[in-house]
Amino acid sequence: MEQKKVTVPDIQRMKAAGERITMVTAYDCPFARLLDEAGVDILLVGDSLGMVVQGQDTTLPVTLDEMIYHTRMVARGRKRALVLGDLPFGSYQTSPQQAVESAVRLVKEGGAEAVKLEGGTAMMRTIEAIASIDVPVVGHVGLTPQSVHRMGGHRVQGRRSGHAPGERERVLDDARAVQAAGACAVVLECIPLDLAAEITAALAIPTIGIGAGAHCDGQVLVLHDLLGLSTDWTPRFAKRYAELGREVVRAAGAYVQEVKGGLFPTEAQAFAPRAARAG
Ligand code: KIV
Repeated sequence: MEQKKVTVPDIQRMKAAGERITMVTAYDCPFARLLDEAGVDILLVGDSLGMVVQGQDTTLPVTLDEMIYHTRMVARGRKRALVLGDLPFGSYQTSPQQAVESAVRLVKEGGAEAVKLEGGTAMMRTIEAIASIDVPVVGHVGLTPQSVHRMGGHRVQGRRSGHAPGERERVLDDARAVQAAGACAVVLECIPLDLAAEITAALAIPTIGIGAGAHCDGQVLVLHDLLGLSTDWTPRFAKRYAELGREVVRAAGAYVQEVKGGLFPTEAQAFAPRAARAG
């Protein structure tokens, strides 16, 4: 039976009903289909694609055109899940007008149903501007990878008390600001679990955590971490639910051996010669 499409109001109802929200990153059509079939509520076309797909050290080089390209592939592959597209670095920070134009492109050309941007208090006017044209906006506070140079690396935020960027009360203020500006949900990345619990209790909008403990309204994982697609490293907060990286190396290695050893292809994979015409 076809399942009901997930919408932005559904996500907000889930918080009210105490139903946990699931989000996973997706970057292309085949994985969007599989994650949708698995029942994931939100497919996030994250600018993490800069690191896990493009092989860059940070998310900063990712362009809006690249985000639109990947969002379009994901939107084509899903039937039920909500498609959320990231606004990449440089596509919304200049002015609210620039942000609106970028969000419109992600919706119109990419098929996103909501957009996500990083930052709290400083992004209030930007969130208001995007929300005012009825494009749902998801905020992102705590560790914001587009601020990697200010943070001095991808580091846990909110451990120390204070109102300076990266300090505990500032993360709380940022989450409140994002809600006040009209965001429909907020991602909390790499903050202590008690801070995430405090924010989740303080906000009416859903919180989606990554490295933020179990008290958030939902969880998000990067696809490559969830599937174990790298053969070496996994962030401490992530969980590998499969070892597909090792499986890819095993399968491709078996193929190499069989081709070199003359074992593939066999007759079963070959086409018979055309039958000679009678007469
Ligand atoms: O880009 C991304 O994948 C993200 C998640 C880590 C939340 O923003």
